[in-house]
Amino acid sequence: MATDEKTSSNQPTASPALIEESISSVMTEKRKFPPPVEFSNSAHVSSMEEYEKLYAAAAEDPETYWAGLAEQFHWFKKWDSVLEWKTPYAKWFNGGKTNICYNAVDVHMNSWRKNKAAILWEGEEGDQRVLTYGELHRQVSKFANVLKIAGIKPGDRVAIYMGMVPELVIAVLACARVGAVHNVIFAGFSAHAITERVNDSRAKMVICCDGTRRRGSTINLKKIVDEAIVNTPSVRNVIVLKVTSETVSMHDGMDHWWHDLMGLAMDVSEPVEVDSEHPLFVLYTSGSTGKPKGILHTTAGYMVHAASSFKYVFDIKDEDIYWCTADVGWITGHSYMVYGPLLNGATLLMYEGAPNYPQWDRFWDIINRYKVTILYTAPTAIRAFIRAGNEWVTKHDLSSLRLLGTVGEPINPEAWMWYHRVVGQEKCPIVDTWWQTETGGIMVSPFPGATPTKPGTATRPLPGIMVDVVRKDGVSCNANEGGYLVIKKPWPSMLRTIYGDNERYEKTYWSEFNDMYFTGDGARKDEDGYIWIMGRVDDVVNVSGHRLGTSEVESALVSHEAVAEAAVVSRPDDIKGNSLVAFVTLKDEYEGDMKLRESLRNHVAKEIGPIAKPDEIRWAKGLPKTRSGKIMRRLLRELATSNEVKGDVTTLEDFGVLENLRDQEDE
Ligand code: WTA
Repeated sequence: MATDEKTSSNQPTASPALIEESISSVMTEKRKFPPPVEFSNSAHVSSMEEYEKLYAAAAEDPETYWAGLAEQFHWFKKWDSVLEWKTPYAKWFNGGKTNICYNAVDVHMNSWRKNKAAILWEGEEGDQRVLTYGELHRQVSKFANVLKIAGIKPGDRVAIYMGMVPELVIAVLACARVGAVHNVIFAGFSAHAITERVNDSRAKMVICCDGTRRRGSTINLKKIVDEAIVNTPSVRNVIVLKVTSETVSMHDGMDHWWHDLMGLAMDVSEPVEVDSEHPLFVLYTSGSTGKPKGILHTTAGYMVHAASSFKYVFDIKDEDIYWCTADVGWITGHSYMVYGPLLNGATLLMYEGAPNYPQWDRFWDIINRYKVTILYTAPTAIRAFIRAGNEWVTKHDLSSLRLLGTVGEPINPEAWMWYHRVVGQEKCPIVDTWWQTETGGIMVSPFPGATPTKPGTATRPLPGIMVDVVRKDGVSCNANEGGYLVIKKPWPSMLRTIYGDNERYEKTYWSEFNDMYFTGDGARKDEDGYIWIMGRVDDVVNVSGHRLGTSEVESALVSHEAVAEAAVVSRPDDIKGNSLVAFVTLKDEYEGDMKLRESLRNHVAKEIGPIAKPDEIRWAKGLPKTRSGKIMRRLLRELATSNEVKGDVTTLEDFGVLENLRDQEDE
């Protein structure tokens, strides 16, 4: 049974439905936004010339480029070689010894940043905490001692199943400090999902909370853990943090309260000097067989890219208050909520709860109260805000914002424009960042002070990152010709393998193209070299001999004034090969009827061409999503094809939505 967080369509399959012909791209987006002059003037990279120079230098001599970045960290011992590459296995900075927790926390103890806020935390009920770097250092050191006393040794796996509280960050950093491998499991996952992940990684310990808050109620996490670890022979101890004061049963010898152990622990702990390639974490993501893949990242390469990409993409300054809304249970939370910001000595905001609690303006209220300067969120959240209405946003003063970011799926140009206009008030650059759990860090993104942006594209690759769009035979596509997004050179934060399964690693990522990493995404590169992601390759459909990225049709639908959100899937069709079925969520003030259906079909025909006209449009009160916010197109495909869902729905956030989506022959 699958318990992963992405749709089955959202990952490269062993033999992906690689497209025989080329993918036709039909979207033309002409709007272009140069970075605001004031932004560029103080940016780390302030012009396209500067970016091009960096890119060219890194392309010519990648190892010197990455070594230059690596030198900015603390090494207990310097590396012998920058890269040892035996396709598809990489060793970065081999021979070096370092510790990522030391670089994220201890280094700031020697500067004024010791008393700088590291974490500004707000609970869902409005409670607030501030942890300075000094306090974070103390807490992490203590918890590292707790782990050591509990017998955790370098290389041991530790599962972490907690809500968004500062102790989650403390637990992650403490693992890194003692050389343990953290395996963070999103607190929305079921007992079965925990069992599967704990067993696959053979975790020795589980760290959890008694409960977590969500939309005004609480969820008893300890109970879920109790259920999960009945079947996990590797687990020796469970450490429980009291957050919501749920009723929990503590089992003698096995379960321990966080506060009891911390009460006894010393606050001095030397970080373990680990090898560069020492495993740092395993994070599970979807797999084609239903068994989640444990993506393995190691220490030094991940550190170098997470930190440097954070610095340049978010143009981070000491004065910033940076807010990434992702949960630490996802890769975005690992790289850009925890490691990237702390390695740069930044102040990060961490919010415990839901965006619409107690009402739809919670994000904007937080931004105003904390004077957030950088906001990094997901297109799915943006579309939800559009639907809720502008007034929730505009009633707050958002003038502190200077930069906006998105990640996770293609952002529809109309959603981009809304983000730009309503949230960014036309003065904030938007960094649309393309990357994956597997890449560890951002691969394609504007440099906000340099790159002119266009709504809907993640623009150009970061220096040192060699992405390309290729045909099935591996030859580069022409400008604007759709193809497969690949990465042609190893990069420091690349996954090293699928935990315990080298064969699957080789098959999934390295078997489709010779010597290139296959991302599983379809894309095109435009005449400026900008990358336009067209969705996963199996979201690419053939309609009457034309390959269409379903995300392009979705963007066309979302650009209609009545539409809040849309998902387009294909259904086999005798005549056309495939026909398109669109599931459409309307803005509150609109009613779905025949007339609107026709108007939407015509709108798509106008935006893209008659070829892309959906054959059927179904009104949806909501779309089926994973808990990480990705639309589960696999379920929609099943519904569109057979009008029922037989596949696995364990990761579905809200079962109610499926009921409304069944066949709606014209009423
Ligand atoms: C998609 C999230 C378009 C893509 C960091 C990728 C995107 C998958 C973008 C990885 C973007 C992520 N534009 N598509 N800016 N960012 N994707 O592993 O299909 O949860 O392969 O990592 O999300 O999702 P994952």
